[in-house]
Amino acid sequence: RLNTPKEMITKVTILSPPVGAEEWKASVVSSMDALVDSCVVVPCSFSHPKETLPTARLRGQWHRTNDRDQLIYYKDETRVLENFRGRTQLLGELGKGNCSLEITDIKSHDNGPFCFRIELARTETDTQTKDKFSFVEDCVTLRMMSEPNAPSLTHKDPIQGRPFTITCSVMHTCPTNKPEITWSRGSADDVTESHREIQRGLWEISSVLTFIPAEKDSHQDVTCTVLFQGRKTITSSSKMTLYVRRSENYNYIIIPVVVALGSAAIFGGLCFLMVKKYKKRIEELQRQDGT
Ligand SMILES: *[C@@H]1O[C@H](CO)[C@@H](O)[C@H](O)[C@H]1NC(C)=O
Repeated sequence: RLNTPKEMITKVTILSPPVGAEEWKASVVSSMDALVDSCVVVPCSFSHPKETLPTARLRGQWHRTNDRDQLIYYKDETRVLENFRGRTQLLGELGKGNCSLEITDIKSHDNGPFCFRIELARTETDTQTKDKFSFVEDCVTLRMMSEPNAPSLTHKDPIQGRPFTITCSVMHTCPTNKPEITWSRGSADDVTESHREIQRGLWEISSVLTFIPAEKDSHQDVTCTVLFQGRKTITSSSKMTLYVRRSENYNYIIIPVVVALGSAAIFGGLCFLMVKKYKKRIEELQRQDGT
């Protein structure tokens, strides 16, 4: 079987001598929002010309900029800075080039920048990684938010007796423990929820409430509350007031009918008066003739 050009290129790459930091590529989101007391997931990926890397020999670490000893994540927790211990976790599989980092229980000083670095240990049991095969660095800065964003509400005008939908949505950066949206009215059956990644690391959760407004709902408020999960529960909410329009009335039929009936009545009345008038006149003339 003939090799396709692509396969040949792959072979050349594998045969070429390894090493060299430029052969490793890492991609970390450069900055993102993080809500204090909640969590954040920093998307991170890396690649190496060698297609399969021996996972057991890969050592992923996250550290504070400019100081590789200030580890915020490492497999061996004893080497991690005390105030990050138990709060950081690699979510992806290093063997698949996924170095996404989760930081929970965000503190106001967790702004970073934090950098990812990968090392290839000489042996699987080598934890000291004195013999670094190669490494790469890429960093993220976290913008601290002490208060959550208020959710945004979108809807059309409610009309009495017609299905009405309100959408409540909010952005967040904690997909492993996503916010919960609740409504001041309706049951779970009236709500549909969706969760999507808007851009790398930034997620949007939306909840759509559907109900049929009645006349009594007019001037009532509908509130959407978002619960951001974490060590503490943080909430934010937005509300709207329903101004229920009467369902489309039948003026477009009633008005022409009224006009038509009215004109007919007036015309009929006039005819009646005319006939009456002429009858009188004829009677008068007949009477004159008779005498
Ligand atoms: C990396 O892993 C995380 C957590 O399992 C996952 O959500 C994400 O989609 C992965 N990223 C890629 C590029 O595969």
